[in-house]
This record gives sequence, structure tokens and C-alpha cells, in this order.
Amino acid sequence: MPFRIITGDITKVTADAIVNAANSSLLGGGGVDGAIHRAAGEELLFECRLLGGCKTGQAKATKGYKLPCKYIIHTVGPVWQGGEKGERELLYSCFRNSLELAGQKGCESIAFPLISSGIYGYPKDKALQVAVAAISDFLSANDMDVTLVMYSKSSFELDHALEMNIKSFIDDSCAHLAPAAEAAVCSKHPEQDFRSERRGLKKLFGAAQKCGSVPAGAAAFKQTQNDECFVCDEAPVSLDEFLMSRDESFSQSLMRLIDESGMSDVQTYRKANIDRKLFSKIRSDKNYKPKKQTALAFAIALQLDLAQTEDLLAKAGYTLSSSLKFDLIVKYFIINRQYDIFIINQALFAFDQSLIGC
Ligand code: APR
Repeated sequence: MPFRIITGDITKVTADAIVNAANSSLLGGGGVDGAIHRAAGEELLFECRLLGGCKTGQAKATKGYKLPCKYIIHTVGPVWQGGEKGERELLYSCFRNSLELAGQKGCESIAFPLISSGIYGYPKDKALQVAVAAISDFLSANDMDVTLVMYSKSSFELDHALEMNIKSFIDDSCAHLAPAAEAAVCSKHPEQDFRSERRGLKKLFGAAQKCGSVPAGAAAFKQTQNDECFVCDEAPVSLDEFLMSRDESFSQSLMRLIDESGMSDVQTYRKANIDRKLFSKIRSDKNYKPKKQTALAFAIALQLDLAQTEDLLAKAGYTLSSSLKFDLIVKYFIINRQYDIFIINQALFAFDQSLIGC
């Protein structure tokens, strides 16, 4: 997953580069600056002394010393002064310049604290929006694993209005939870739940009957009035025919949808917050079975509506539940046609759910 949000102590995170929220002297301080200097050891300070300080919004690199990283990238965030003194642009530059510098150093992964949101007083929800904007802009044109490390859940604040909207959507959905639909289990075939097969086979044979080319020996498919069964026992379909008649796989559907969208593969997997390696695996293996988070990430990247999303999920054997918080939060964004995966992941993180992407 190119961009993830986690809680923890950044000095314990392994990455090619760890970013320090420093001050302009680069000679250490409190907060994450103090933690990084303590964990890295005193040699870090010796090297920092040679750097001659750093301007707000700029970034400079040192070795990682005792930290589990190759480089420590020191950047100086703006002090919050009410938001009218260019704080947003300076904070955006901190993230952007740190990412660019990490790229120049050949780093494939980088971890950030939420710069300026501690001692420098930047409101956490605003700082988060700037961080996500800078990181997603960079990832729209570059491949790098980026981790935003929140020291604690309390240092994470989702946009209040968004949080309230999601909460009421979840409450409404649970309140109107339809009684669990009986599985479409046929009395003659209690072992089978035909819902997904029916959709696939009806589509297949529906099309075949239209053009009059129902495969020889195939059963005549009819739907009984109470939807009880759609396979007529008289002429059972052979297993080969049944398997031959199955729908296109998840991977085949995904590639078709990407072609139809007009987006390139690169644009799609970057929008889906999926790394290049995983995408090539899915593209090269038509029977690849993705995780649900991965399948959903592509539905978001392709801006599918709810029915199209359900269809794509079904190809991988998943459905969207009306009772699971994770599913409801993703449903909320799809219904509202908000397809920014980085904002969706912030919401999922705020509600303690796993993120979407690989
Ligand atoms: N791991 C991850 N995040 C951390 C850690 C840690 N070990 N310690 C603190 N944080 C979080 C804070 O909760 C905050 O959300 O890092 C974010 C940035 O807080 P600060 O470290 O206070 O940095 P900042 O707000 O940018 O202020 C910089 O503080 O430490 C001094 O020398 C530094 O003068 C500079 C100023």
C-alpha cells in the first residue's frame, strides 16, 4: 500500500527514511525531535551541527545512525499563527521537499510524523489535510511507500463534519437493517446458495438464449415462480460445462473496466493506492484472488457505483455488508460519489478500520 496511516512511535518504524519535525537550528528539541535524537544516538547531533541549520519548509538529510533507517530527513514546520501567514504552503513544502529528497536518495519508503501539529500548534485536522494532499500529489506521479505515523489516536482528528455524516450514515444503515435475506437456497439443492451463480449463469444463458445458441446438452434454465431454483433437474449441466460457463474472473473484469475507463494501468493502481508489484500480479494471473480491501480500492479508483462495485466484489467472492462498519463507511463514500481514496482511508483510520489498498 503506497500510503498508509498507523499509530505508534516513529523511532520504532522501519523505513528507508524517517522524517524529523525539527526546528531551524537542527540541534534537537522536544517532541518527535527529541525522541529521534535520543534513539539515533549522539552521532546524529554531530552531523546536524555541520548542516548549518534549515529554513522553515525546507528539508536536509543525515544518516540514520541507530534508527532502523538509512536516512533521517529533518524538516522544519511552520508555527501556527492563525492560518493567515502562509502556514499551509510552508507545511505542504515540508512534506513535498522531504519526499523529493528521499526520492533523490533512492529511498523506496518513508515515514512521517504529523509535522507542526505538536509544539508548533498546527490544528491536527488541518495538518492532516495538508499532509494527505502533499503525499497524494507526490504519489500521483511517483512510486514510494509512505507511512504517516500518528503518535496516538488522540493526535488524529478527522474533519468534524465528515465524521458526523459518517456516524449518522452508519446509525441509519444499522437501524434499517433488512432482516437477513434468506440465502437463495433451493429446496432441491440445499447445499448451494445460487445467488451469485444465478446472476452469472442467467447472464450467460440469457445472452445465449437471445442469440439462440444455448450450449448443447446444457440444462434448460428456468426460474420457478418463487425463485426457488433455476436449474432444471432433468438435464444437469456437466461440471465442465458449468465451469466453462462461469463469469469472467476478477482480474479479467478489472482489466476490462480499466480499458473502458480510459485510464492507464499506472493511473489506476496509483489512484487505488496499490503498489506496482501487486498490480502486475493481478494483471498476469487471471485467477488471482485479491483481498477485499484491494478489490474495493480498484472500485474506488474506477469510480464505480454501488451496483458495479458489488459486481466487481462478487467476482472475487465478496459482498458489501449492511452491518459491518468497514463496508458501511466505504458504501457512504460510494453513494456520495466521493472517490478520494486518501480521504476514505482517513475516515477508516478514524473509525479504527483497516485501510483500503493492498
Ligand atoms: N512518534 C511519532 N509521532 C510523535 C512522536 C513519536 N515518537 N512524538 C511526538 N509525535 C507527534 C506529536 O504528537 C505531534 O502530533 O509528532 C507530531 C509533531 O509534534 P512535535 O514533535 O511537537 O513537532 P512540531 O509540532 O513540528 O514542533 C516542532 O518541537 O520538538 C520540537 O525541536 C522541535 O522546536 C521544534 C518543535
